[in-house]
Amino acid sequence: MKTIIEPFRIKCVEPIRMTTAAQRERILREAGFNVFLIRADDVIIDLLTDSGTGAMSSEQWAGIMRGDESYAGARSFYHFQDRIQELTGFAHVLPTHQGRASERILFELVGGPDKVVPNNAHFDTTRANAEHSGATAVDLPIPEAGDPQNQHPFKGNMDVAALERLIAEVGAKRIPLVMVTVTNNSGGGQPVSLANLRAVREVCDRHELPLFLDACRFAENAFLIKRREPGMADKDVREIVREMFALADGATISAKKDGLVNIGGLLLLRDEELLHRASNLLILTEGFVTYGGLAGRDLEAMAQGFEEVVHEDYLAYRIRSVEYLGEKLTAIGVPIVQPPGGHAIYIDAAAFCRHIPVERFPGQALVCGLYRSAGIRAVEIGSVMFGGKSTASPAGAPPKRARLELVRLAIPRRVYTQSHIDYCIEAIAEVYQRRDGLRGLRMTYEPPVLRHFTARFEEV
Ligand code: F0G
Repeated sequence: MKTIIEPFRIKCVEPIRMTTAAQRERILREAGFNVFLIRADDVIIDLLTDSGTGAMSSEQWAGIMRGDESYAGARSFYHFQDRIQELTGFAHVLPTHQGRASERILFELVGGPDKVVPNNAHFDTTRANAEHSGATAVDLPIPEAGDPQNQHPFKGNMDVAALERLIAEVGAKRIPLVMVTVTNNSGGGQPVSLANLRAVREVCDRHELPLFLDACRFAENAFLIKRREPGMADKDVREIVREMFALADGATISAKKDGLVNIGGLLLLRDEELLHRASNLLILTEGFVTYGGLAGRDLEAMAQGFEEVVHEDYLAYRIRSVEYLGEKLTAIGVPIVQPPGGHAIYIDAAAFCRHIPVERFPGQALVCGLYRSAGIRAVEIGSVMFGGKSTASPAGAPPKRARLELVRLAIPRRVYTQSHIDYCIEAIAEVYQRRDGLRGLRMTYEPPVLRHFTARFEEV
């Protein structure tokens, strides 16, 4: 098979500022060993997130000029709405400024104290918005998702038996909706199968519960269904996308991922009554229903992005470039979450740095090692992000720990070429060879909430 090439030419370039190892050493120390506190100009390859970091196409930039900035009834809104209706089959489309705005509106309407929201795995803003309403967020991933080496093709699947048990335990009345995140970001960018979505739908039907998708990475999920699910290879990705959305009563979407834009979100609904209530909340804090906190030009860019993302040449390149990074790292012995998912490779930092105990943050040590040696910015998804003392923990209780100590290398869409990825592979191989030299960290400043963003460390 020939190399799968980037299916685009580059018309506009953004220079990367190179740094020396000595400069990076100083920058890392000044930032308290926290890469969130480093300026982006001081990063050579930025793999912090795939959210809002993609490159737009010439057609999207043309759409930016065509944007209609009318307050109400803008042409750009109708263009956007038509595209989304055609893609998803949803009649009601509300634009929002990003995914968490859709989540906030949805959970203000259906959440509340005493409510329980099941999900295969909540993303942190989804969990925070459900909990902000007073509800309890429950993750129900399949057991295979807990084992980084397990090669299950759909590790994003929801544990259907566990969902049944939860409903029996708390009662359907306390569950306002069931949510499924496609692909599962917190669990390694792993896809959810159509068979699993159908099984969850069947449980929802039996208990008269609505099913919602957190569908930021719906196109990557659909392409992985085409590749991995028996009988799906000959289906058009668009057909699979329609089937996924047809199973749901609603969806929250951050367009900063598979919408191929730098800002934007959506709330999709079927229920008229919920639509009216959501529209009123939208007007209260986001904007009128035909712009939802965005400019008309943003709606044009989204309309075109949601069209381009289901092109199969794009998805073949996208999924292959992530898989390529995963395969090469596996070949040199770097432990990663298997199999490679849609938008990122997750390194198993506990296995990478066996000499660093969890309380010395092996993931953060690896993140610092990657920045020091090559200017690569990755993100720790482990006990820095999910650990620490919760306000509810009794005095003297040991700090919480994450389930897994991971480092995410998220790949921005259409931004880096294969030689950038090769550079990362070489750099990670070098850090892996010298892994015994990585040093654990102690937190010197611990903010009370979302501590990973602003915490400071020193090396031990
Ligand atoms: N749901 C999932 C599965 C996400 O990954 C994100 C964002 C959101 C919801 C929230 O969307 O940022 O537009 O408000 N994930 C980013 C990340 C931030 O880096 O994974 P948003």
